[in-house]
Amino acid sequence: MVAGAGNETTGRLIGWIGSILAKNPDQRRELAADPLLIPNAVEEILRLEPAGPAIGRYVAADAEFHGTTVPAGSALLVLIAAANRDPRRVPDGDRFDIHRDIRHQLAFGYGLHFCLGASLARLEGRIAMAELLKRFPDWDVDWDHAKLVSTSTVRGWESLPLIVGSSVPVA
Ligand code: HEM
Repeated sequence: MVAGAGNETTGRLIGWIGSILAKNPDQRRELAADPLLIPNAVEEILRLEPAGPAIGRYVAADAEFHGTTVPAGSALLVLIAAANRDPRRVPDGDRFDIHRDIRHQLAFGYGLHFCLGASLARLEGRIAMAELLKRFPDWDVDWDHAKLVSTSTVRGWESLPLIVGSSVPVA
């Protein structure tokens, strides 16, 4: 359980770091220049592209959500990825912004089953981002060969070839 929950998810997080920072070269350069911005940038990536975009629940007792009763015995899919961009809570939620004031995001779930490995996952994300930026401050993605996949639990890059060094086109 811990091996599965701890590997696929953080692997996807690191893939999202690669793709999102490739698409946002100005913010990537800001991060390379000031590593103190990295923890909030990791949080913003978790908000924008949570590695597990949905979680399932079995409804044990009738429950009311926004005026609708979901009867006991139902299967319920909770869309974390949509909630993380809910315009009632997150202004301009489709935009990536490493300076965003993130009060609360749901990539690690909520309540009783809140992710056991959240602190470790955040640490892994910070280290991966910091080391990548240190070694290769500029990169792009070979989008023709990038492959996005979803499983029943995670969504992310199965393949994300990066172009690094002097061959990176200047954005
Ligand atoms: C980016 C990385 C990660 C994401 C997005 C993530 C996401 C989640 C989510 C959404 C849940 C709640 C599931 C639910 O409510 O049904 C969860 C639970 C859990 N996660 Fe993570 N996780 C990550 C990394 C890790 C790591 C590194 C570990 C362990 C080394 C881990 C171990 C667990 C365990 C054991 C649970 C079950 C907790 C329980 O049911 O009480 N996760 N995770």
